[in-house]
Parts: sequence; structure tokens; C-alpha cells
Amino acid sequence: MSSEHFEKVQVIIKEIDAKNPSSEEELEQFRVQYLGAKNQIKPLFAMMREVAPEERKNFGLLLNEAKQKAEEKFEKIQNELKKQKSRVDHGFDLTAPGLPLPLGSRHPVSIVLNQIIDIFRKIGFTVVENREIEDEWHNFTALNTPDDHPARDMTDTYYLKNDLTRMLRSQTSTVQVHEMESKKPPIRIISPGRVYRNETISARAHAQFHQVEGLYVDKDVSFADMKQVIKHFARELYGDDVRIRLRPSYFPFTEPSAEVDVYWGLNSEEDYRMTKGTGWLEIMGCGMVDPNVLQMCGIDPEVYTGFAFGMGIERQAMRKYKINDIRMFFENDIRFLRQFASAH
Ligand code: DAH
Repeated sequence: MSSEHFEKVQVIIKEIDAKNPSSEEELEQFRVQYLGAKNQIKPLFAMMREVAPEERKNFGLLLNEAKQKAEEKFEKIQNELKKQKSRVDHGFDLTAPGLPLPLGSRHPVSIVLNQIIDIFRKIGFTVVENREIEDEWHNFTALNTPDDHPARDMTDTYYLKNDLTRMLRSQTSTVQVHEMESKKPPIRIISPGRVYRNETISARAHAQFHQVEGLYVDKDVSFADMKQVIKHFARELYGDDVRIRLRPSYFPFTEPSAEVDVYWGLNSEEDYRMTKGTGWLEIMGCGMVDPNVLQMCGIDPEVYTGFAFGMGIERQAMRKYKINDIRMFFENDIRFLRQFASAH
């Protein structure tokens, strides 16, 4: 009679449901009874033969349910007892999961800077850093900047209140001077860092930002070498098909000097705004190191030549991530910073 067999299994299931072992001994009894080598469910499987063929499937399902219930209850109670034991042994629950550790993300300026560093490292440039509080010699004089240059004005540069011969550097070009004064060519460095200008803070300008300076001094370094290095850099950062152009410009410490533009396109209103209607974006200033600068830094301009370049990092990051307000970089709003968690 198969209904009897079904009933037997139902009874066992009810039993299992009702049991609540509350000690290790009771749990062990439970295990022996329902899961051990001689458990009570096992002989019921042998009764399968006595069940009508069309009911065998259901009988099998019921047996499996009984087995599963026993297993689940055993595991659940085993875990609970473990926790209890741990609480008693240690005063707290060693098995509890840890508190989630919130992972930070890299700042967008660091992300772009790391890319720039990678590009120049691969072609033999070393990364150096230098001070942010400078003297006039390094920030202006040795960079061939005349005494009456407007950048020297208090309205442009932050001088220290108690020492007007010192200032927050307004450009990373200061590192050129430090490098040339302390090393012999060949010199091939890039130098990232923070710079400060007495600006009215707006969406497009900030009183602090980051630059990367580059300097290459050796025998026979030419304008063509500079152009090649800059082209390589632009390709790596913007893609193989990038177009660049050099526009004549002026910097006190380079001669000749140029401004580098990359072609951005003019397909949208945004492109017009970003490129001021030209289709070209300015990415850096550059030039051949002025012989006066070499001389002032103790390098013989008859023997050595060099090129230098400098670029703003925020600008590149704004372009890359379509950030339209430079102030965001310094506000440390976590909602802004979190958006770069998966960037690298
Ligand atoms: N120091 C310049 C600035 O802050 C940028 C620059 C231009 C750096 C030309 C250079 C250079 O090394 O050769 O605007």
C-alpha cells in the first residue's frame, strides 16, 4: 500500500520540522537520526519498489524533501552554535562578516598625470619633483623674465606676507632651473606639480592648478627633436590619427617659442565653444631653451642646446572627462570623485 509509505515520510518531515537541537549533543543526535550512516530516511528509499510506478516520482520527490530539510536544519543550527560558541569564547562573534571597506578612487588629475608620466617614461624621461615655495631667481630671473614683466606683479603671483622675496611658484618651469643648476647634461626630465596664480576663481580659471614641465638638454638637441617628441606624446594621449600644429608664440625662457594645438574638430556647438571656433585646442607651450637661461644655470650654450615644454593637467582632464568647471577638482565632493572609480 503506497499511501502508507507516503505517510511515513510525511511523519518524518514533520518530526524534522519540529526538532530544534539547542546543544552540540542534541545536534549530533539529530545528525545520527536523519543524516548518519544508519539514518531513518534511508530505509524509506528501499520502499520505492513497493510504490506504484506512477507514484514513484512523487515519492522520490518527497524523500528528497525530507533529506534536504534535515541537511538544511543541520547546517543552520551548526552555524548558530558556532556563532554562540565564538561569542562565549571571545566576547564577540568571530564568524560575523567584516564591515564593508569603502574603496577610494583615484583623483582625475592623478589619472591623467599617470598617463602623461607613462608616455614620457617610455621614451627615457625621468620624473622629478621640486618645491612649491620659490625665490625670484628660480621663478623669474633665471628664466630670463625681466624685472618689469607683469607676471612678477603682486596681482599675478602670490608672494609670502613676511618675505616678499619668496612666492608660491607660478609655473613648474622653476624645476628647469633647479635641474640645470644641479646636474650636467644630458638632462631629460618631466616634472609634475602644483602651481599658484593670483586669479579670480571661476569655472575656467583657478588660483591653484597642476602642470607638467619637460626639459631635454644635450648636445645637438634640435627643434625637430622637440616636434617629434611632442607629436609622439599627442599620438599616445589622443590617438594615432591626431593632428598637431605649432604656432609661433613667446615665452621669456625659450627662443623660438611655440604653442602646440591638437585638432579637435568642429562638429558640435560644444566643439565651437571648446576651440573658440577654430577647431584647434591648445595643449602646451614649448620652445628651445634660451641660451641666456642655459648660461644663467651654468650650462655652456656653445656646447649644449635643449628644448622645454609645459602643460596644464586640469585642462587635459577636463577635455578627457568633459568636466566644464575647474573648481570641481579642488572641492573634493565625493559624488564627483566617485565617478572616476573605474577610470585609470
Ligand atoms: N611656464 C609656461 C606657463 O606656465 C608654460 C611653458 C611654456 C613651459 C613654454 C615651458 C615652455 O617649458 O618651454 O605658461
